[in-house]
Amino acid sequence: MTILAGIDIGGTKCAVTVGRRKDHNEITLLGKVQFPTPTDPYQTTTKLNSVLAQLMLEQGGSLAAIGISCGGPLDSKTGVILSPPNLPGWDHIPITSLIKEHFGVPVGLQNDANACALAEWRWGAGVGTRNMIFLTFGTGMGAGLILDGKLYTGTNDMAGEMGHMRLEPTGPIGYGKAGSFEGFCSGGGIAQLGRMKAAEALAIGQPPSFCQSESQLDAMTAQQIAEAAQSGDLLALQVFRTVGVQLGKGLSVLVDLLNPELIVIGSIYARQRDLLEAFALEELQREALPHAHRVCRVVPAGLGELVGDYASLSVAEYQVM
Ligand code: BGC
Ligand code: NA
Repeated sequence: MTILAGIDIGGTKCAVTVGRRKDHNEITLLGKVQFPTPTDPYQTTTKLNSVLAQLMLEQGGSLAAIGISCGGPLDSKTGVILSPPNLPGWDHIPITSLIKEHFGVPVGLQNDANACALAEWRWGAGVGTRNMIFLTFGTGMGAGLILDGKLYTGTNDMAGEMGHMRLEPTGPIGYGKAGSFEGFCSGGGIAQLGRMKAAEALAIGQPPSFCQSESQLDAMTAQQIAEAAQSGDLLALQVFRTVGVQLGKGLSVLVDLLNPELIVIGSIYARQRDLLEAFALEELQREALPHAHRVCRVVPAGLGELVGDYASLSVAEYQVM
């Protein structure tokens, strides 16, 4: 029996998970603590270390390895987080040594989308596939690629940094670029689109249900727009249509380039699938080569809200395999 720990560092929140690995195919979650990501990276690592130490005290047993899953760009070989767009102020942070100093066990670092791809492939919707892709679609947009039965990371861990790809000449900003895949398909992107629509509607005196006055524009969240869309607000529905169509464009690039049999999408897609799926699949069918899209299924994360926990644990498992 092996105890593994997973650390998930997200743009919005951090999660520390402890799991028990029975064998290659079975892992049981034992405990988890989550907290909002502090802006300062060193404050974050201090907190991560103390939260994990506390979890280990409660669980007992001895820790075999730690896996860290984080948004890129990062260097998995040296264990350094480079300068992720969704972790402003994090610049060349030697995360694996900062954690290792504390626990003295092997510590691995992997891009979050790659880690989620591994987790879905091992334990979720991708079991039994050879060519599958995971798209994060949360705070950021990134892809994890399982090709020919193994994780493909590229020359220096940049494979799958699709959020950076421009889909339109203008549009919401993501990954520092207007009209990018992350600009349209991320929590921040949805909020920007909602803000644009709401500002237009306010200007002609027809406020949408999710924004009664200009003072509410800045604080608007993707979640509010999703709730408005779920209760039939037309402007909010239009926002999700735009996002769904752009998602379909992104999917068509993956399908034409890599010919996968499965694309698994997490976070916002998993929660708001009914608002996005029809538009995304229609656009995918319009844009991609029929012989390629015919064989590709698009599904929400099989591990649901737990995908991030299994993801960091899969990085830990890689250290002991
Ligand atoms: C990062 C990717 C990451 C994605 C999801 C993007 O902004 O650059 O590396 O996978 O967000 O967190
Ligand atoms: Na990737």
